[in-house]
Amino acid sequence: LDDDSRLAFEPAAKPVPPEERARLLEDPGFGRVFTDHMAIIEYDEAKGWHDARLTARHPFTMDPAAPVLHYAQEIFEGMKAYRRPGGGAALFRPDANARRFAKSAIRLAMPPLPEEMFLDSVRALVRADRDWIPATEDGSLYLRPFMIANGSFLGMRSSTQFIYAVIASSVGSYFKGDAASVSLWVTREYVRAAPGGTGEAKCGGNYAGSLVAQAEAVRNGCDQVVFLDATERRWVEELGGMNVFFVFEDGSIQTPPLDGTILHGVTRDSLLTLARDMGLTVREEPYSIEQWKADAESGRLTEAFACGTAAVVTPIGRVKEADGEFAIGGQSTGPLTLRLRSALVDIQRGDAPDPYGWVE
Ligand code: COI
Repeated sequence: LDDDSRLAFEPAAKPVPPEERARLLEDPGFGRVFTDHMAIIEYDEAKGWHDARLTARHPFTMDPAAPVLHYAQEIFEGMKAYRRPGGGAALFRPDANARRFAKSAIRLAMPPLPEEMFLDSVRALVRADRDWIPATEDGSLYLRPFMIANGSFLGMRSSTQFIYAVIASSVGSYFKGDAASVSLWVTREYVRAAPGGTGEAKCGGNYAGSLVAQAEAVRNGCDQVVFLDATERRWVEELGGMNVFFVFEDGSIQTPPLDGTILHGVTRDSLLTLARDMGLTVREEPYSIEQWKADAESGRLTEAFACGTAAVVTPIGRVKEADGEFAIGGQSTGPLTLRLRSALVDIQRGDAPDPYGWVE
């Protein structure tokens, strides 16, 4: 990370004392422990993007008629900074997040943030708060860039004022207790995204709409929900907040194609590249829930896993529906899941060379 920040820096007057921070970092969980600073850049029609600053983390004050509070004009990103073996911090493919953020902005009728501003803000925050990266094996600094529609107006049109900000959270693994595998619930009642909708934008509304289905999964004793496509209600699309991969007996892997309703996961894309370079047969093709069940039962499917920035690569052990359930592979993490996970994590953490130029 070079020191090329174009943000004004107003250091926190009362940072968390080092002993208190060390205590918080022992077992941070996911998304509960926050750092001392945040980055902010404001937008209005007259000035464009302005007042870029890195400042003490603080609450927003906004008008109760701010459009984000009514019409959910909001987008976000998820990315991580890792502690490097020789000290310092590294980001993984931040340019991919910057690009996706700009695309999400356009879908939500928001002004796209120039990619360089996105990168500067994220780098500046990591530089200021790098001591918040846990030193644990699965620890990282989860960065959450987001943009909200500000102002005071209830009419149905895009806002003219926006706030872009980045906050950071010290995290361990996403799933509690470092589960060997997660269980999935197939919802037949709810869909996540329809053709023409906002499914491939990373907007808060997609996640708000998934919560009731996620709660249904938990009520049925499962960790995550599986969404099927909106049209035929049989093609596996995505989990509550992560992409999904299938591994077959012949060593090939498959994941649903990016047809407009699925999030373009950076982890998904990285795993596809790694798998292709390992010489594996890789398919981006639809896979139905009936086929998944049949293949798991016949043994043609040997492994399945969830992937995402937060989830990394997490094996799927069991899939449950209203009328029964099926198990996948054995009890432990499958060999190909493990191999792909290690290839990715070793690059992210600097334990392996980075032939792709993904780490900076
Ligand atoms: C991520 O993986 O970064 C996400 O945004 C997913 C969310 C469920 C934490």
